[in-house]
Amino acid sequence: MVNEQPLTPSQVAHNGVQLMLAGFETTRNAFSGGVLALLEHPEQMALLREDPKRLRLAVEEIVRWSDPVISLMRVATADTEVGGKKIKAGERVLLWFPSANRDSEAFDEPYKFDITRHPNLHLGFGAGPHFCLGGPLAKLEIRLAMEELLERYDGIEITGPVERVQSSFVGGLKHRPVKLIPHAINSRPACQSLR
Ligand code: HEM
Repeated sequence: MVNEQPLTPSQVAHNGVQLMLAGFETTRNAFSGGVLALLEHPEQMALLREDPKRLRLAVEEIVRWSDPVISLMRVATADTEVGGKKIKAGERVLLWFPSANRDSEAFDEPYKFDITRHPNLHLGFGAGPHFCLGGPLAKLEIRLAMEELLERYDGIEITGPVERVQSSFVGGLKHRPVKLIPHAINSRPACQSLR
């Protein structure tokens, strides 16, 4: 019910689809983007391996850095002003999340991937009344997946070029081949692909 009115079948269907798309694509892309960031910044991977308790903060930085949601559009409902720019009611405004998450007024060294960043008031999950419904679930999923990966594999090596999804809406890795080197008690190296 919204305003005491039941949702129409179309609204129910759209909500279901939104929940599934919002939940899968974003989290998957944040995880693979996070693994890539750690591989491209071996000193950050070393920090994480040295103390896995850093994972909670690392997950925030992974979401800030990987920015699974790239942009969303809003339509102004009233005349307003943002950052000195006047916006008229009815005008469309595109929110660029990677830009907000690299705002030098909000972050020290915004172009540095730093898993110890604290505070980390990123906007990867949006802000305000439409703040991501699944944010805590997404963070839990990324943390558990990362814990398993680091526990099972002593090494992860990049073995090929990265291919990105071409999108200005929800972005991420399409393909990034890696070699996983299992923990010593496990068997031979396995070739996998981050998706
Ligand atoms: C790393 C993973 C995720 C990221 C980066 C992300 C990001 C976002 C962003 C930026 C918004 C828009 C906020 C706005 O419109 O201002 C949003 C909304 C939403 N997200 Fe997520 N999300 C993630 C995971 C999830 C998961 C796992 C679920 C559900 C299981 C989910 C469900 C939703 C829903 C339902 C909304 C709409 C909320 C509303 O309009 O009130 N998201 N998310």
